[in-house]
Amino acid sequence: MKTRVKLGVAVAASLMLAGGQAMSKEYKVGVLLPFSGVYAGLGAHIENGFKLGLEHYGADLGSDTITMVRSDTEAKPAASLAKTKKMVLQDKVDVLVGVVSSAVLGGMRDFVHNSGTPLVVANAGNDHMTGEKCSPNIVRVSFSNSQINRPVGGWLAKQGVKTAYLMAPDYAAGHQMMEAFKKTFTEAGGTIVGEAYPPLQGTKDYGPYITAAKAAKPDAIYTFFAGGAAITFVKQYHDFGVKKDIPLYGAGFLTSAAYVHVQGEAADGTVAALHYVPAIDTPENKKFQDAYQAAHQKVGSEFAVAGYDAAHLIVQAIKKSGGDKDAFKAALSKAEFNGPRGPLRIDPATNNVVQNIYLFKNEFKDGKVVQTILDTIPDVQDAPNGCSM
Ligand code: BEZ
Repeated sequence: MKTRVKLGVAVAASLMLAGGQAMSKEYKVGVLLPFSGVYAGLGAHIENGFKLGLEHYGADLGSDTITMVRSDTEAKPAASLAKTKKMVLQDKVDVLVGVVSSAVLGGMRDFVHNSGTPLVVANAGNDHMTGEKCSPNIVRVSFSNSQINRPVGGWLAKQGVKTAYLMAPDYAAGHQMMEAFKKTFTEAGGTIVGEAYPPLQGTKDYGPYITAAKAAKPDAIYTFFAGGAAITFVKQYHDFGVKKDIPLYGAGFLTSAAYVHVQGEAADGTVAALHYVPAIDTPENKKFQDAYQAAHQKVGSEFAVAGYDAAHLIVQAIKKSGGDKDAFKAALSKAEFNGPRGPLRIDPATNNVVQNIYLFKNEFKDGKVVQTILDTIPDVQDAPNGCSM
């Protein structure tokens, strides 16, 4: 499907030809997101945010147009690679945006690296893609898996939690998130008393895993689940009645604004960490939430914000580069702005985003879940981790 977005009427000075004549260009964006499978809902949020970002930031791009071509990655690496190749080789997109799953990003990395077409990652946190497998063609505006979880180990140990049980889906993101937490938690004196990695696709019953975690008698359980898996896990954890003895913590996708209303009372008492929480009190976030809620009658989630900021990043780079491909890529790698999540910048050493991480709690009050920020860890930046570009 193609969507044509006509952007505004004013003409940017950098896009004028010598004689003062406007030089218009059609930028083709290939949007690769899961619209089916375990992460289907997440793809819809990212796409909605991306379109809103184009409206907000692309309004003064003059006679230029941005055309979107979209494809369903199904959160499956093989299908995603085939669709990425089609977008680059056949559709000839100028830039790719998307991918939710770390496994999908890992599977398309070599093709993107060799193709010369830049990819703006709007979710997938795979650490290696801005570490040892980094590429000048891959710029991430969302988060890395370790960036979200690394700050939580020490924070939780400070709250008096001495032992933890880990649980996450059995794929790259699950393992990387748990490893990052484990490292800082054990460095702060904590002990991991057990871990479990249920399959990503198709796990309907977390009962046996919850029973095993309970038997290990930890002070807390620390998890990563997202999308449909997060809804099911949080509800089943609540139904098992374990939370009063073993409080539930995790990477904040566990109780995302995208679906915390569906979890309802089951989310009560959960504490989590994320790069965006709707409760952030800034004019940038208010502008985003007001517009997103007016358009979709839903709260904008971290997934929508990643799409919104991806559009901001791309439009900013178009304005700075005036149509030159190398200048466009260089501008992506040096981007910096304030968005709904607060200040963010791309670290040119890794092409990963540098941003705040928020610790927040969920409370079920008057029939709805209220998310309150407990702590902000500012300016969290990944080490190069083997990246050399
Ligand atoms: C990932 O696979 O990187 C991922 C998927 C959903 C939410 C967060 C991370």
